[in-house]
Parts: sequence; structure tokens; C-alpha cells
Amino acid sequence: MGVIYWNRMKHDVKVKLLNEQHQKLFKVLKELYDAMENKSDKKALKNIIDNLFLYVKEHLETEEALLEKYNYPELEEQKEQHKAFVNKINEFKQEFEKNSFMLYFDMAIFLKTWIANHIEEIDRKYADFLNNNNIF
Ligand SMILES: [Fe+2]
Ligand SMILES: [Fe+2]
Repeated sequence: MGVIYWNRMKHDVKVKLLNEQHQKLFKVLKELYDAMENKSDKKALKNIIDNLFLYVKEHLETEEALLEKYNYPELEEQKEQHKAFVNKINEFKQEFEKNSFMLYFDMAIFLKTWIANHIEEIDRKYADFLNNNNIF
């Protein structure tokens, strides 16, 4: 199971800012893989978890605000999935504090699943909707 990279064919949501924010999540995933390979210490993992909280604050909130502004019909689905993401990141933080051995692995699986199921499927559904509202 390897790292995955942002790819226009698969991950483009046709809005520059949101694509840039999504790319940051891929960067966090890469950091996680690097940390796993280098058997990095707690500090590296702490940094990755902090970056995930930053992603929540920066991206999930921007996305929801934008979709809300234009009355996106599937906003509820977005919000529910975002909430589940936040809950999971909180869980990882708790596991981190307990020094969980499997944490790197679990986080990598979770982020890759999120990218495939959320960014690739659910987020891409709003691309044309936002473009039709002149958001690019
Ligand atoms: Fe989303
Ligand atoms: Fe997103």
C-alpha cells in the first residue's frame, strides 16, 4: 500500500482554491508515509495530526461555507461526512496520546479511503454546480 498523489483526472473539483486545499491533504498523506519509512518519533506524528486539524479548519469549513452560500442541494451529505472526518481525527489524537502502535497504519488507510470515497466521489459532484455559479 503506497502513497497516492493528487491527479487531475481523478481529483479535480474544478475550483482552484478547493483543489489547492485538497492538495494539502495529499501532502499530509505523503508526510505520513515519510514518517512511517523513517520510523519517525512522536514529534513527526504530532505534526501530522496538527496538520489534519488545520485541514479541517481551513478546507472543510471553506467548502461548506461556499456550498451553503449557493444552496448546494447535497450540502447535508457533505456536512455529515465532514463531521465523521472530524470525529475520526479526534479519535486519532486520543490514540496518539495513548501511544497506539498501529496509528500510522490506521491513519494512512483512513486518509486514502477518504480521498477515494469523499474527494473523488462526493466532492467532485459539486464541481459543475459551483462552476455554474461562476465559482472556478
Ligand atoms: Fe467535502
Ligand atoms: Fe473537500
